[in-house]
Amino acid sequence: MKKLTSETLRQLYLKFFESKGHKIIPSASLIPENDPTVLFTTAGMHPLVPYLLGEKHPAGKRLCDVQKCVRTGDIDEVGDSSHCTFFEMLGNWSLGDYFKKEMIPWSFEFLTSKEYLGIPVEDIAVTCFAGDKDCPKDEESAKLWKECGVLPENIYYLPKSGNWWGPAGTTGPCGPDTEMHIIRNHAEADKLGEYDFDNAPSGTFLEIWNDVFMQYNKNAEGKYEPLKQKNVDTGMGLERTLCILNGKESVYETDIFEKAIEKIESVTNHKYAEGGEITRAFRVVLDHVRTATFMLGDTKGIVPSNTDQGYILRRIIRRAVRFGRNIGLPQGSLKAVAQTVIDKYAEVYPELVKNSVRIFEELEKEENKFSKTLQQGIREFEKVAGALASGGEIDGVTAFHLYDTYGFPVEITNEMAREKGLTVDVKGYEAAYAEHQAKSRAGSEQKFACGLADHKEQTTNLHTATHLLHAALKKVCSPDIEQRGSNITEERLRFDFNFARKLTPEEVAEVERLINEQIALDIPVVMKEMTLEEAKNGGFTGLFESKYGQMVKTYSIGEFSKEICGGPHAEHTGLLGTFKIAKQENVSAGVKRIKAVLVK
Ligand code: ALA
Repeated sequence: MKKLTSETLRQLYLKFFESKGHKIIPSASLIPENDPTVLFTTAGMHPLVPYLLGEKHPAGKRLCDVQKCVRTGDIDEVGDSSHCTFFEMLGNWSLGDYFKKEMIPWSFEFLTSKEYLGIPVEDIAVTCFAGDKDCPKDEESAKLWKECGVLPENIYYLPKSGNWWGPAGTTGPCGPDTEMHIIRNHAEADKLGEYDFDNAPSGTFLEIWNDVFMQYNKNAEGKYEPLKQKNVDTGMGLERTLCILNGKESVYETDIFEKAIEKIESVTNHKYAEGGEITRAFRVVLDHVRTATFMLGDTKGIVPSNTDQGYILRRIIRRAVRFGRNIGLPQGSLKAVAQTVIDKYAEVYPELVKNSVRIFEELEKEENKFSKTLQQGIREFEKVAGALASGGEIDGVTAFHLYDTYGFPVEITNEMAREKGLTVDVKGYEAAYAEHQAKSRAGSEQKFACGLADHKEQTTNLHTATHLLHAALKKVCSPDIEQRGSNITEERLRFDFNFARKLTPEEVAEVERLINEQIALDIPVVMKEMTLEEAKNGGFTGLFESKYGQMVKTYSIGEFSKEICGGPHAEHTGLLGTFKIAKQENVSAGVKRIKAVLVK
């Protein structure tokens, strides 16, 4: 096996797929564009959903990238050897081009060839789809793996719960997949039959790569309809692969976290390798500071708040502070750990360097805020917990009090309760919260689905209205206005932008007038592909974050609006109806939000 650093692994992956005719595209933002169903980009395919459904991608039909991702569903498990809330996914895509018989041999070549990863073939296990009423057993993939040289006894079959990728319960592109695992315990693996994969004791295998054969769209009735184009979507976990290649026990022992560990050790009296709760606390701090740094440093950076992405960020920072206390991490140290993250990723994600001031300021602010109440809150918690017998429940009003007065996100209270063999009445907490706040915290990552799959007429119209709003705000309020976030449901658009104050009633009226004028003129919405340079020179707005991206899609609405954007859009503005601003909100200092509707 080749010993590689994270830098070399990224390069090797891209080089390999470039040699197979793929174009390298840049990582998209961690905050999904125009997608109400998910808070963060959770996989490399996520920003590509419109293209998987048939939109033409300006870079062609073969793409590859390294995508930054956040998944917080398993946040409680961070601290073990492999879970992270932030990770990088190496991925490649066929948009209606190649399929299984190309992809499987390529995966095999990349994994085993001496020029690339050089993993011994006997250490590789694969799983294939076992078949059900929606889709037949994937014997073709198994046969291809065998032909490549994977040992027949290392090929397993799993049902939809294991070998199917795509939206859970909602709509979007999906299909059977085949997963590649490294066998870490041969004695246990040898005992398993071909349908027993899930019965292996934990630690027997480590999954590193997934090839999805995306050939269905799950529609609103829950039916799997064949997609117009058959796609391949793959994702390889960078951290896990590094861990395997370098013979490490844990992803936290790879080069990615080396400097951060040194930093923490230098300001505490503990060593990462002490084991037990100490190692766990190190890992939580390492993971959470990295995730917070990427969220704060994103091109569409978010800041801690009480809703949606901001809430997840707040919870992550506060959790880092709490675990930091367990190893005596002095107050103010999160910034120093963040600096090591910025240094490590500066070349690949220059936005971290560009936004480092925001990263440091927000981390410091949030850490200070929580540190003030942490000790008192812990005392209060101990009092409540001490009065309960083991197995007892902390009531919702108390959990809300811990949140409201001491800043303990309920998930943290829950976790502390679990450590003492107690539970929390989370429903009761939510009722207390709703009562106090009137508006409850909307959204959680459970909302995950492939929302960009939503090509419904009204969402498409609202997307076009978002471009008109962006342009109108620049004309009425300030040419410096930039999009900071966008989210569209069937009912409304939501647009965040940098502006110090709310719009006056006159400005609101003028923005609405300008937009409705463009709608009345029934202007065609024109899509054109061009190079990033041409787009920049032609006055198109957009995130110029691309390092390699040569061709981009642009949408113009006359001379009124010109944006770089993936689409889709209404064909002409006359389809939109009447534009109306429904609400203005404060997101944070310097960022305002407008919610607007189209009335037919
Ligand atoms: N989209 C697939 C995954 O995330 C590749 O596993």
